[in-house]
Amino acid sequence: MREEQFQQKCEAVLRPELRKERHALVTGGAEGIGFAIATALAAAGYWVTIADLDGDKAAARAAELGEGHQGLSCDITDEAQAMAAAASAPFDVLVNNAGIGDTHLPTLEQSVESFRKVLDVHLAGTFLMSREVGRGMVERGAGSIINLSSIAGLTGLPKRNAYGAAKAGIAAMTRAMACEWAGKGVRVNAVAPAFVETALVRKLAEAGRLDLPTLRRRTPIGRLIQAEEVAAAVAFLASSAASGITGAILPVDGGWTAFGDFGDASAG
Ligand SMILES: NC(=O)c1ccc[n+]([C@@H]2O[C@H](COP(=O)([O-])OP(=O)(O)OC[C@H]3O[C@@H](n4cnc5c(N)ncnc54)[C@H](O)[C@@H]3O)[C@@H](O)[C@H]2O)c1
Repeated sequence: MREEQFQQKCEAVLRPELRKERHALVTGGAEGIGFAIATALAAAGYWVTIADLDGDKAAARAAELGEGHQGLSCDITDEAQAMAAAASAPFDVLVNNAGIGDTHLPTLEQSVESFRKVLDVHLAGTFLMSREVGRGMVERGAGSIINLSSIAGLTGLPKRNAYGAAKAGIAAMTRAMACEWAGKGVRVNAVAPAFVETALVRKLAEAGRLDLPTLRRRTPIGRLIQAEEVAAAVAFLASSAASGITGAILPVDGGWTAFGDFGDASAG
């Protein structure tokens, strides 16, 4: 790197005011992991746009981040809405976080409608937002896209056909776009979290649909992942500290996918 460029990079790291004009878009940022990501990116100096199905909540959450951040109503599966969200600022960072869960029914009872819906939100949504925000990034010759995959896309979780296929598809799309845009200054990476301790996971546990002690024992670090830990990995991949990383699927899983032994991975 030329000395002048290196100096500019150091100044940008040391002087937050030089970073004020960087914009980040977080889909599904009104809840859970997405809001933790929005918070981490705001703390890193980005102007954050939260685009969510629930526009009122997106606006309220953006206001929590402080003045200058914005919340938008956006269904990422709708082409016109995806285009409008992408056009709302010159985004340096896109986080494709919005997602929905599976029915958790046995395969023989699963409907093709809910299967298609899960694929639509995760795959078509991630594709559309990446295409539209990526268009500006490619024109400007710079940008970083971070997708939300999951251990469900890297391993086999019974009854989660659509969700697992969607998250594996997101990993494949991450690699494909990363290779296509690598020469254009746009990096594309993904994080693959294990079970994250969100309000939804706690609700599923209370309803008896998730067994938290068993999950903890299955995880080498002996606990569930925190939303802030996913957000920290996303903020790292967004930053220039990750300038040499593209096409990576980074597990944020406390060792879940590394573990291949029999029995429990930890005392929980
Ligand atoms: N929670 C976990 O344990 C876990 C683990 C691995 C990966 N993930 C992934 O992380 C992401 C966030 O998960 P979460 O648990 O925080 O979910 P969540 O349900 O708490 O929040 C998802 C947000 O996405 C929004 N959304 C849903 N469909 C949308 C659409 N069509 N357009 C725009 N916004 C939409 C919702 O309104 C909501 O605000 C998802 O992609 C999920 O698959 C979650």
